[in-house]
Parts: sequence; C-alpha cells; structure tokens
Amino acid sequence: MEGDNVARRDSFGSRLGVILASAGSAVGLGNIWRFPTEVGNNGGAAFILVYLCFVFLLAMPVMLAEFVIGRGSKANTVGAYRALAPGKPWIVAGFMGVLGGILVLSFYSVVAGWTLHYTFQSIGNQLTAGQDFGAVFNDFVTNPWKPILYQLAFLLMTHFVVSRGVERGIERFSKLMMPLLLLIIVVLVCCSLTMSGASDGLRFLLRPDFSKMTTGVVLSSMGQAFFSLSVGLGCLATYASYFKKETRLVSSAFSVCLIDSMVAILSGFIIFPAVFSVPGMAPDAGPGLVYITLPHVFNEAFAGWPLIGYLFSGLFYLLLLLAALTSTISMHEIATAFIHENYHLSRKHAAVVVTLVCMVLGMACSLSFGPWADVKIWNRGFFDFFDFLTAKFLMPLGGILITMFVEWYLDRRFVVAQLTNDGTIRVRGLRLLLFLIRWVAPIGVGIVFLNEIAN
Ligand code: PHE
Repeated sequence: MEGDNVARRDSFGSRLGVILASAGSAVGLGNIWRFPTEVGNNGGAAFILVYLCFVFLLAMPVMLAEFVIGRGSKANTVGAYRALAPGKPWIVAGFMGVLGGILVLSFYSVVAGWTLHYTFQSIGNQLTAGQDFGAVFNDFVTNPWKPILYQLAFLLMTHFVVSRGVERGIERFSKLMMPLLLLIIVVLVCCSLTMSGASDGLRFLLRPDFSKMTTGVVLSSMGQAFFSLSVGLGCLATYASYFKKETRLVSSAFSVCLIDSMVAILSGFIIFPAVFSVPGMAPDAGPGLVYITLPHVFNEAFAGWPLIGYLFSGLFYLLLLLAALTSTISMHEIATAFIHENYHLSRKHAAVVVTLVCMVLGMACSLSFGPWADVKIWNRGFFDFFDFLTAKFLMPLGGILITMFVEWYLDRRFVVAQLTNDGTIRVRGLRLLLFLIRWVAPIGVGIVFLNEIAN
C-alpha cells in the first residue's frame, strides 16, 4: 500500500511553496489574536524572551522530528508510523494526531467564523461609532444560528482549498495569501506606529517585567509556542510527506519558526499602539480585545480620518481571516490525508467526510457560547473542552511521542540522512539539533505536561 502511495503522491512544487504552506499553518489566530494578549498580560519582553527560547529549543526540534517522520515515510500521520514502525504501538501517536486535528479545527473554526463575520461587517462599514461593541459581540456569539452559518461558510472555504489537492490547492493558495498577509502586516505596523499611542503601546508590549514570570506563565508560554507552531499533531509531518527529496528540512523549519515569531511580535506592534491611542481602553482585555476593544479603537483613533479607519479595520480583519484560513487548511489536511490513503477514498470524498464531521462538532462548540452554555464535559463547555484537550493534552503528549520516536526508535542513520538529504548538504549544528530532539524536547515538554496534569 505504501509503495502505491509513493507513486501516486502529490507534492509541493517548490521550496518557497514548502515554506509558505508550513508558515501558513503556523501563522494563525494564535499569533494575531492570542500572542499579543499573552505578552501584554504576562510581563512584556520577559514573556517574549521565554517564548522565543521555547520556540527554538522545544518546538523547533519537534517540528524537525515531524519533518523527518513525514518525508521519511511519505505517508499521512497514521501511515507514517505504520511504515516506519510496523506492528508497533507508536501508531497511537498517529491516531492522536488525526483526532487532535479534527478537534482543533472544530473549535478554531468558531473563532474563524466570528472573524469572517467581522470582516464582512467591517467592509460593509457596519462597525461604526456609538455602538456598545461588547453587547454587539455578545449578541452575535450567543445567537443560536448566526455564528454557525459563518463557521460553516468558513469550513467550506477550507474544504474547497484542501479538496483541490496539495500543489493546486494548498501550495497555490499559500503562495498567494502569505505574501498578501505579510504585506498587510507591514502596512498596518507602519500605520500603527504613527499613532499617538505608539510609544505607550510599545512600552506596554516590550517593557520586561520579570516579576510576572511565574511558573504558570512560563508553562503557558510553552503551550503557546506549541500551538503557534502547529506542532505535536502531525500536521507538519503530513505536509512534510509532500516534500521533495531536495527539500532542506532544517533550514525550512528555521524559516518557519522565524516567520511565525516575527508575525506574532509584529501583531503586538499593530494592536497596542492602536489601543493606547484611545484613552480608557484596556490593553489586557483578553479574548474580547480583537472583537470588542478594537472596533471601538478603530473608530476613535481615526475619528478625524474615517476613510483611514475604515481601511485599517477592514485590512485588520482580512489579515486575521487569511491567517486563520491557511491554518485551518493544515488541520483539515491531517485527517483528509489519513482517510484518503487509509481507506482508499478519493481525496475529494475524504475531504467531504472531514468537513462534515467538523461541521457537527464545530456546531457544538459554537453553541457552547449560547444555548448550550450549560452542557459541560469535565466542567467545561464544548469549545473550552476541545481547546483544553488539544492544546494542553494532545499537542504536548504528541510532541513527547514524536521526538522520542525519532531519536529513540528510528535508526540514527535514517534520521541524519533525512536531515542532510542523504549527506548531500552540510547542516550546521546538526549534533546540537539531535541533542535537542533526543533530550531537551521530550524532557522539557514532559515536565510542562506533568505539571499541567498535576494541576
Ligand atoms: N498554529 C496555528 C495558530 O497559531 C494553529 C494550529 C494548531 C494549526 C494546530 C495547525 C495545527 O493559530
């Protein structure tokens, strides 16, 4: 079966496609919506510093391990373990990834749906001054059907790209959208830095406050690094199964980590100068920041130049939308590739199955903000439970298993051959990387994970 797959497999056409698609997976709501809020609340530059250490010392090794598994097997996450460790229990890590991908997509598409709604609202000039944006947001998310419609529309957009295949769908879309996304970021950062609150905003974001770095904060910054880089679920292993044999795994992983961290920090450069330009706005408003605080900020800060305010707000929500879409595509792909290859269903049909499952689970997540607020699993609504199960449980556990599999189970020569393209390229710091994958990543993540479980 695996031999068949190799012959029939789609692949990324270019190196740029590899980097942009993987960066597309990484850059998402986690960067633009969650990261700035966490930085603002948790010690500014001190948090950024700790976060960057986690990105390069823990998350990047996991990403590399995923790349090795994916390209080394040329199969979906479950097929990969089946090919590399036939008959061994490692395959559980593959199934965890498929399940995790579906669960993440189900709750993530709720927020992506809100973003789609806010993009339309903003383009249609509906987010005008004089409204109570808190009440507007609350009315929307608790409505029994409106947010679901937007969520379903968003899932259909994801479905459309995924079902077109890797090169014609995912790669082409990422090559178009990622440059646009980066351009929007540059425009918004420039605009934000000219605002009256720029220096206060940057001070809030960058002032290092080590007193806030409690154990809890350190742990949550690791969770954030994992989520933001999409590692632990085999999402990047699935993408890597479409890499060509010339693709350089180490430099690609490094580029993705760099792009992702840059976007996260620049998002803070967009949001906080704007927030600090309007008196009385709370920069630590949490998840409501983007949907409640910002519409107000866009109106007030640009009261004298409504056209600029209109463009700024439209571009901001469009940015969030594109970032979310390139990420949901990668979540969808984990399960689509698995069903397509494992059950010999056509790619289009496999994608339909995944979309339908996520629609059903996703609706439950959306309803947990409204009519189903009282339905609890382990004391959490559907949305919170799925979030918890993936970000706190499946992703770190997956990270531990993936790195252990690569460094403890696979033959060292196989791993080195993958990282050096069969010895044809020289990789600087190879020994250090192998050390990180073998010891630092599984132990580091293990400590954080156990701590979470103990709590
Ligand atoms: N990395 C994405 C973000 O930052 C989320 C994601 C998680 C994508 C898991 C794929 C898999 O928003």
